[in-house]
Amino acid sequence: MSLPRVAAALLCFVVAAAASARAADPIVIRFSHVVGENTPKGIGAEMFKQRVEERLAGKVEVVVYPRSQKFNDDGALLALLFGDIEMAAPSLAKFRRYAPVLQVFDLPFLFKDVDQVHRFQQSEIGQQLLQTMLPVGILGLAYWDNGMRVVSANKPVRVPKDADGLVFRIEPSAVFLEQWARVGAVGIPMPFKRVTDAIREGLVKAQENAWSNIYSRKIHTHHRYFTEINHTFLGYMVVTNQDFWESLPEDIRSALEAILAEVTVEVNRLAGEQADGDRRKVMETGTVEIISPSAEEIALWRDALMPVWKQFEPDIGKEVIEAAVAAAATK
Ligand code: SIN
Repeated sequence: MSLPRVAAALLCFVVAAAASARAADPIVIRFSHVVGENTPKGIGAEMFKQRVEERLAGKVEVVVYPRSQKFNDDGALLALLFGDIEMAAPSLAKFRRYAPVLQVFDLPFLFKDVDQVHRFQQSEIGQQLLQTMLPVGILGLAYWDNGMRVVSANKPVRVPKDADGLVFRIEPSAVFLEQWARVGAVGIPMPFKRVTDAIREGLVKAQENAWSNIYSRKIHTHHRYFTEINHTFLGYMVVTNQDFWESLPEDIRSALEAILAEVTVEVNRLAGEQADGDRRKVMETGTVEIISPSAEEIALWRDALMPVWKQFEPDIGKEVIEAAVAAAATK
């Protein structure tokens, strides 16, 4: 064989080998989130990765980017739409731009506890909400829990008038902005990764978050007072890019959905345990005070905050709010 023909044959071989390697390349799922690995969502993302890579070895790989390493939540949703990542799990308070109806989860005192949240999420309307961002190409796959939001501040906040004049870091929720304005406080929306610095630098004097986020971001080393008003619940929607999900081979997609369903049960079980555990750890530092308002004091909070329901009713939809109230009340 002449030299040029050998070279051509070699080239064909290399191209064919590369093509066959590409054909066998695993599907890569990049999962970006903003919290620590030791929180319910962080643990859930890792658990999802492990189970996927065990059961779909060689077929699917999951790369987890925790702690806003890659994107904050706003950026993650855009990245999902542009195909820069395949999965994310932002807090339910972060979807307003894509689906105003999801603000139902932000309404104060709608859910008393996680069982009530679950009843609504599992209801017909709750399940439909997973599909509410399809017009923009975002598909909701599951709901994950964290816990009830706790208010922390550099002064005791027991009743609404104690919040007057306080500057709060809030998630980018119009409901939260309005809620705090109702008691004379100012809400500044800010990405999660900025919270601790903003408190340390005195930009904000208060914030609201779940115990696992408070503990993992060491908020208790800056704030002394923690108030359990139980006004809102911090939970997540695990989301993907609809086109990506629908492009997956049927068997892979069902396997991923089955794994996600299992992981969801685990995450939601351990979120409750972790809320108690991280609350205890914060208390055991001995440097904080946990304030549990009395029933009368909670009634003052309800009177002050609940008028935001009416204000957001046109955005959310009366029937959705009523469905949430009904699901929460059902035993
Ligand atoms: C999260 O739990 O994902 C972050 C919530 C926040 O922004 O406070």
